[in-house]
Amino acid sequence: MISDVHGNAEALRAVMRAEQDADASIFLGDALLSGPQANETLELLGQLNPSIAIRGNHDDDVLDPSTFRGWPAEWVALNEWILADLDASAITRIESFTDAGAYQFDGRSVYLHHGDLGSRDLAAVPDAEDHVFDLLGGGSDANLVLFGHTHVQFTHQIGQRTFINPGSVGQPRCGVLHACYGVFQDGAYEARQVQYDPAPWIAALDRIDVLNDFPDFKSWLSNGLLTGYGIGKREPWTRYADQGYA
Ligand SMILES: [Fe+2]
Ligand SMILES: [Fe+2]
Repeated sequence: MISDVHGNAEALRAVMRAEQDADASIFLGDALLSGPQANETLELLGQLNPSIAIRGNHDDDVLDPSTFRGWPAEWVALNEWILADLDASAITRIESFTDAGAYQFDGRSVYLHHGDLGSRDLAAVPDAEDHVFDLLGGGSDANLVLFGHTHVQFTHQIGQRTFINPGSVGQPRCGVLHACYGVFQDGAYEARQVQYDPAPWIAALDRIDVLNDFPDFKSWLSNGLLTGYGIGKREPWTRYADQGYA
């Protein structure tokens, strides 16, 4: 189970190498934006061919760029460069991603959700209130709810219900440079992480010439990847890092 690759092909390749014996996979959304290796990521996702791929908010941005046009200029420049450079097949693949809902996977019923509940007050993080997790379950009574979006690898139990975020493959936020994901084996779940070389990601970022106008932003992005604080070193991510989350 993988989520939140965000155009980081190095990280996804490392996960696929580590788990090449896996029978099947689930992807929980946020494939390409806003990472510098969108086409390579797309190719790897094609090879992986997940049994189920859920559409994330940053996948919606690929299908409808008007969603990010009001963002700060540096983000608009980055996203527009990525979209202009994108292989034509990207749109078709992302259109094939499906909505949150109840699915069957490996003989069991699961509820899958990207994890975006439309508000930062409803962030599905380890110390979120029960009603946030109820919303993730979409009103279903599924005992297993899998989600991503908050880029924190954790499992949360409420009564008989288990909520699992495998963490982010390509953009962790808890202060470690590694790719996070999760594996179901013989009915048991295990959260895993794998190391990778970030140099090709950094080189790909360097090739995005429109970012020459935004040098501080470019180094913020690089620094975020290298330090494992993909959204900046700040609360609440530093707190989760201190608490040992990946
Ligand atoms: Fe994400
Ligand atoms: Fe997301």
